[in-house]
Amino acid sequence: MIKFARLSPQRVAPPCVTRLATDADLPALRFVDALMRADRDRMHLIQSSIEKRLCWLAADNDEVLGFILLGDFLGQGFVPLLVVAAADRRRGIGRRLLSEAERQCTRPKLFVSCNRSNLPAQELFESCGFEASGQVANFDEGDDELFYFKRIDALRTSGEP
Ligand SMILES: CC(C)(COP(=O)(O)OP(=O)(O)OC[C@H]1O[C@@H](n2cnc3c(N)ncnc32)[C@H](O)[C@@H]1OP(=O)(O)O)[C@@H](O)C(=O)NCCC(=O)NCCS
Repeated sequence: MIKFARLSPQRVAPPCVTRLATDADLPALRFVDALMRADRDRMHLIQSSIEKRLCWLAADNDEVLGFILLGDFLGQGFVPLLVVAAADRRRGIGRRLLSEAERQCTRPKLFVSCNRSNLPAQELFESCGFEASGQVANFDEGDDELFYFKRIDALRTSGEP
């Protein structure tokens, strides 16, 4: 049966928690991220992030709503993947997961990236205070990778959450 909540506007933030993902969460993560099922490299990245305790998910009770991976790039923090379930977008889950990555990042700066064509991700990064930090061509043909960054060390010393 379709839950009534699914039929109402989705803009209300669900009462979700963020926690480290475990192997037991893999089927739910597969459900959230359709691309993971077809892309073995993506699947390996997610599995190895779980093993290294670098994958956090947002869940509303038992329902996984999204997840974020944290890695490093040239000595700084980097988010290789952030996915929110299509049915749960625009409810603040992406923002919540990015703030979890900021809390967990042990490097002075946190970088994120997305394709130029990915306007929702660009809007999310800018709304979370990330600054544009350049672009790289030729990862995806005709769709540059845009990088953004945030100074995590500055946030810590200023006492911001
Ligand atoms: C990008 C993504 C993670 C955003 O997640 P989300 O949970 O929908 O984002 P939030 O609800 O936290 O949005 C926070 C803010 O970001 C901006 N934003 C997010 N999605 C947007 C959209 N589709 N259009 C315009 N602004 C958007 C808004 O400013 C929003 O605040 P508001 O809803 O109060 O206006 C999600 O669309 C997604 O999973 N996309 C596919 C995977 C992907 O592109 N990942 C990023 C690169 S790895």
